[in-house]
Amino acid sequence: MRPLRRSARPVVWPGVIERYRAFLPVSSRTPVVTLLEGNTPLLPSAALSKRLGRGATVFLKYEGLNPTGSFKDRGMTVAMSKALEAKSVAVLCASTGNTSASASAYAARAGLRSIVLIPNGAIALGKLSQALIHHASVAAVDANFDACLALAKSLAQKYPITLVNSVNPHRIEGQKTCAFEICDVLGRAPDFNVTPVGNAGNITAQWKGYKEYAARGLIRARPVMLGFQAEGAAPLVRGRVVPNPKTVATAIRIGNPASWQGAMAAVVESDGRIEAVSDAEILDAYSRLAAEDGVFAEPASAASVAGLLKLARAGYFRQHPRAKRGGFTVVCILTGHGLKDPERAIASVKTPKVLPPSLSTVAKAVGLA
Ligand code: F0G
Repeated sequence: MRPLRRSARPVVWPGVIERYRAFLPVSSRTPVVTLLEGNTPLLPSAALSKRLGRGATVFLKYEGLNPTGSFKDRGMTVAMSKALEAKSVAVLCASTGNTSASASAYAARAGLRSIVLIPNGAIALGKLSQALIHHASVAAVDANFDACLALAKSLAQKYPITLVNSVNPHRIEGQKTCAFEICDVLGRAPDFNVTPVGNAGNITAQWKGYKEYAARGLIRARPVMLGFQAEGAAPLVRGRVVPNPKTVATAIRIGNPASWQGAMAAVVESDGRIEAVSDAEILDAYSRLAAEDGVFAEPASAASVAGLLKLARAGYFRQHPRAKRGGFTVVCILTGHGLKDPERAIASVKTPKVLPPSLSTVAKAVGLA
């Protein structure tokens, strides 16, 4: 490697608004609120590529490496900048955790007040700690996410506050930059884009991103969109609202997604699929990612990998026109960091025994002797 010249300026990533300004609803009057989100790694997975076979290359888009640990930051930089431009003084969201973590961090940066409604007892510890440390007003509501979102919408109608859930179109605009980054790195779109689905804003946003790049001639073909819900929280798969959604993947424990139509349009227009994966399949993918790829993603994120493996087992890629000749590309979106939910990680492995400080006992216990 050449040594850095003293005068050489480091290349600084400017955040998604500056990087993709031409594609976003911002002007010179928009004050940019950013934590330099985006530019997340697109990691090849040798383990998953091997498992798919047929010359497949599987990449992991590690969105957990965004500033607050999830893809929500892409949408929040735009939503918060627009809220500031509109002279809003407070923002509000309902959340299964990550949206509230992101909203409270970006609001802190913007000097705005943040209010978050969370389903009591149903969000991961790391996410709750984020909302609290950023000084959000947190309301733990005795209801599920869908009821919290309905409440948030009503509050936003009654009080002068900006709703920053993905029903706010600026969130979708920002989140589409994930698709741009994937295309910029690959030099094309992947053949298959695999993503977990909860409130369905993210799959809607990614598809919008791919369509815009295609419309500007920046990619030739668009990907097939594959979305996965948890079996106990799969309204899009069942075709009806699920009143009491259940899954270990709390981030996607949602029974009535706000972007229902957007998700279905993405799947239909791209000739894709929306399917369900069981909690056991999600947790298996979660453990494999950590053990085989060295990637710690939260359970909801692992739903994409669980879905990929399920389709592969069912022979989907063997028969698919974009895959059957081999040499195809898959991107799995890993939406949030594993550290968000340390309790789940610890519950899914054997906890270590406490040992005396003795060389022989320790060597034996760790399998060296
Ligand atoms: N993965 C993670 C880690 C999430 O936090 C979410 C959604 C999703 C996937 C699904 O994305 O809702 O756009 O379909 N979390 C929201 C929240 C609902 O409140 O943090 P989606």
